[in-house]
Amino acid sequence: MEKTDVMPAKGKLGIMVVGCGAVATTFMTGVLMTRKGLGKAIGSMTQYDKIRVGRGENKQYLHYGEIVSLASLDDIVFGCWDVYPQNAYQAAVYAQVLKPQDIEPVRDELEQIVPMKAAFDKNYAKRLDGDNLKACKNRWEMVEMLREDIRRFKAEKGCDRIVVLWAASTEIYVPINEEVHYELSTLEAAMKADDRQHVAPSMCYAYAALKEGAPFIMGAPNTTVDIPAMWQLAEETHMPIAGKDFKTGQTLVKSGFAPIIGTRCLGLDGWFSTNILGNRDGLVLDEPENFRTKEVSKLSTLETILKADEQPDLYTDYYHKVRINYYPPRNDNKESWDNIDIVGWMGYPMQIKINFLCRDSILAAPVCLDLCLLIDLAARAGRYGTQRFLSFFLKSPMHDYTQGEEAVNHLYRQHTMLKNAIREMGGYEADEEID
Ligand SMILES: NC(=O)c1ccc[n+]([C@@H]2O[C@H](COP(=O)([O-])OP(=O)(O)OC[C@H]3O[C@@H](n4cnc5c(N)ncnc54)[C@H](O)[C@@H]3O)[C@@H](O)[C@H]2O)c1
Repeated sequence: MEKTDVMPAKGKLGIMVVGCGAVATTFMTGVLMTRKGLGKAIGSMTQYDKIRVGRGENKQYLHYGEIVSLASLDDIVFGCWDVYPQNAYQAAVYAQVLKPQDIEPVRDELEQIVPMKAAFDKNYAKRLDGDNLKACKNRWEMVEMLREDIRRFKAEKGCDRIVVLWAASTEIYVPINEEVHYELSTLEAAMKADDRQHVAPSMCYAYAALKEGAPFIMGAPNTTVDIPAMWQLAEETHMPIAGKDFKTGQTLVKSGFAPIIGTRCLGLDGWFSTNILGNRDGLVLDEPENFRTKEVSKLSTLETILKADEQPDLYTDYYHKVRINYYPPRNDNKESWDNIDIVGWMGYPMQIKINFLCRDSILAAPVCLDLCLLIDLAARAGRYGTQRFLSFFLKSPMHDYTQGEEAVNHLYRQHTMLKNAIREMGGYEADEEID
């Protein structure tokens, strides 16, 4: 390892997960099983990927942990909040993602992870009816209670550092409102005035985390930290933030496949994506206002990869549609279909069909692990504000839209950004240009 200014990952890393559902429990169980030598963290970049560092004769390919100091899985301590009181063992069994033989060996540890009362507002997820809720008079009190939870958890578990990860349900769509969301002072005033329309519960979690010196990751498509007020808070507190929406199945394929069309200079007439899923996430997304949040996130992928202004002959006015259908029999085993109408030589049409029979939480768990370990690394490296190098893991990556900045959705460019950040934090030279 080269010499760098990055603080080493010493002591325990507390990962406090908002939500104790399918994704959260699959993530926790996988980490606990892996550190017992009973599972493999397959799909995790921090555990498997190798990056080139150095050039020419000095070139070598190293794991992330050989380049930078990363928290070890043995040092992770989990905590969570949920609307339902079931502990992580009960929630993992309920989610039916993992087989009993992959849960039972860590049953004792999972049973210790008992959700704290949720900061919740039913208007933001009408389909949920749990009663493990904080009794708070207003949004500001919600924040205060969450801050107290983080402080207590950190002290009780003896954690050196905390990361807060949102893996809770998708909230209803909160359009960005300049009067409330553009300045930290106006956001705080809205919290104090209990403006429930503009301050989602997720904003209270994010605000509390940053104030308590914990990086925050938004795994759902909520606009929580995608607002200038939160960027300001992240700068003030010197904390990194990342979001939004884990890039797992269909969008991973889209951000990896669209570059094939673009690189080969084929045209696009339309891209229709639909899927069926039957877990609680699907139930919440069956509500049109919650689906809207997801739709906005999923739709943003193509337009920054296949751009009409760069290739008007190829990408003007293509039709892009995304559907999600709640279908209980499939539970977490989502099936997605993509129909891609492409255009070739002389304008002749062709079609590509992609049918992905995936497992939602199995794809999301390694993304959770990587985001937590890497945002903790970023904090120790003194990086704060939006962490664009984490775009690789996110469906709708954050970017400063107030300055006309564009998101990078192209999977391979995102990978280059990720590799460069690891190189830089490891004291190596980064590649100069991202093509
Ligand atoms: N699995 C994937 O591939 C994937 C990909 C991208 C994003 N996501 C997002 O990850 C999130 C979790 O997905 P899941 O399948 O685990 O869903 P889930 O329904 O199994 O779990 C979510 C949990 O969050 C809890 N919750 C809701 N609001 C809360 C609040 N305010 N405070 C505390 N807890 C709260 C719910 O009670 C539920 O137990 C969803 O928003 C989903 O859209 C998942």
